[in-house]
Amino acid sequence: MEILTISGGSGLFGEVRIPGAKNSVLPIMAASVLCRGTVTLTDVPHLSDVEASARILQSVGCKVLLENGRAVITPPEFPGSAVPEPLMRAMRSSLFYLAPLLARTGRADIYTPGGCRLGARPIDMHLSGLEKMGAHITEKDGGALEVTAPDGLAGADICLRFPSVGATETLLMAAAAARGETVLRGAAVEPEVTDLARFLQGAGADITGVGTRVLHIRGRELLMGTQHAVCPDRITAATVLCAVAGCGGEVLLTNTCNAHLAEVLRILRRAGCMVSASGDSSVALASSGALRAAGGWDTGVYPSFPTDAAPLMAAALLRAQGESRVTDTIFENRFACAEGFLRLGASVNVCGRTLHVHGMDLLNGADVEAPDLRGGAALVIAALQAQGSTRVMGAEHISRGYEDIAALLAPLGARITRSWGEPCGRGCRNAGTVL
Ligand code: EPZ
Repeated sequence: MEILTISGGSGLFGEVRIPGAKNSVLPIMAASVLCRGTVTLTDVPHLSDVEASARILQSVGCKVLLENGRAVITPPEFPGSAVPEPLMRAMRSSLFYLAPLLARTGRADIYTPGGCRLGARPIDMHLSGLEKMGAHITEKDGGALEVTAPDGLAGADICLRFPSVGATETLLMAAAAARGETVLRGAAVEPEVTDLARFLQGAGADITGVGTRVLHIRGRELLMGTQHAVCPDRITAATVLCAVAGCGGEVLLTNTCNAHLAEVLRILRRAGCMVSASGDSSVALASSGALRAAGGWDTGVYPSFPTDAAPLMAAALLRAQGESRVTDTIFENRFACAEGFLRLGASVNVCGRTLHVHGMDLLNGADVEAPDLRGGAALVIAALQAQGSTRVMGAEHISRGYEDIAALLAPLGARITRSWGEPCGRGCRNAGTVL
C-alpha cells in the first residue's frame, strides 16, 4: 500500500506546468485501435491508468512505447478482441476498449469495468447505444460481456438520456468507424470529449458539431495513424489552485486552458482568492490562506462546476470562516473523503449528495485513508493545511490520476514523501512503513 507523509502548515509559492489530461488520454489511447498506422501522442501524463491502458493495448496486439511524455502506438493489422479480466477490472477506462475492438474486429470480449467507488456507475447508455448500431450483447457469469457485430456497426440516430462523458466517447468511437451516418443527440461537451473528437478528426474521421450537444458522424472504413497533443488536465490545475488557496501563497500555472477552468476560478474568487488569467494558457492565483466561506453551489455537466473538483474545493474551504456547501449532482458517493476531513479536525457533514463545511481555524495532522482518486487528492490538500504530520494511506488511488502528486506540488514548497506499507483492511490507522 502506498503512503504519503505530509508536513503541513506552510504557504505554497511557485510555478507549475499542467500536464496532459488523464480523462483525455485514456479514451484517445483506446481510439488508436481504430487507426491503421502509428499514433503518436504528446503531453501524455505518466499515470498508472496510462500504464494499464498500454497493457490493454498490448494484450490485443498493439506495439506501445511510453517515454518522455509520449505514447507511440502501432495497432496490428488484425487486433485481438478479448481483454483479460484483471486489466478490465483495474479501472473504469477499460470500458473505452469496447467500441474500438467491436468496430475493428467485429467482437469484444470484456468485463464490466472497475474504477472509483463513486456510486453505481452503470454502463447502460454505452450498451444500448451500441445495440442501436447493430451490436449483440450477451452478459455472462462474473461480469463478463460478449459483444458481437457480425454485420459490422451501422450508423444510427441516438439520443442520450443524460450527457454521459463515457457513453458519448464510446458512441463517438463506434460511429467514427461505422457504416453510414450517426447522429448523437444529448452528447456530453466536456473538454475531454472534444479532445477525443479532434483526435479522431486528425485520423480522418468525419465529425461535425464538435463541442455541441448534437454530433454528426459519417463513418470511415479506414482511419489513419496521426499525431495529437493531449489537452491540459483541468482537474490537475484545479488541484494545484485549491492547494494554494487553502494553504495561502501564490502560484503561476502554465499550459492551462482557462476556458475549462471558468467555474473553478469563479468559486475561488468568491472565497477571496486573487485570480488573474493572462491569455488562455496561464493563470495566477494569490491567497492569504484566510478564505471566506463560498456559500452553496452545485456541480454539473460541463460547463458547470466539475464533479471531480468538488472534494478539492471543499478541502480548500475547510478553514474558511463561515459555511460552504457543495452538492454533487453527478455521483451519489462523491464525498467519501469527509471521514478523512473529520480526522484532521475539520467540521464537515454529508447530507445526501451535499457536503457541508463549517470553517475551523486549525487542522491537525492525523492518519487518514484515501477513499478514491479525487478524495485522496483532497486529503492531501487538507493535510497541507494541517499543523504537524499526516499520513495518507491508500495513496495508490491518487497515482491513478496524478503523475506524482508529491512532485507536482514540490516546486511550491510542499513537503510530501512517499513510502510503502503492508496492505491492510479498510480504515487501518497504523500501517507500518516498509522502505
Ligand atoms: C468520466 O466518468 C470521468 N472519467 C470521471 O472522472 C468524471 O467524474 C465523469 O466523467 C463526469 O465528468 C473518465 O473520463 C475516465 P459519466 P464517466 O458517464 O464517463 C451515469 C476522475 O476522477 N451513467 O458522465 O463514468 C453515472 O452513473 C473520474 O477522473 C449511467 O447511468 O462519467 C453517473 O451518475 C471520476 N449510465 C453519471 O451518468 C451510463 O451508461 C455521469 O457519468 C453511464 C453513466
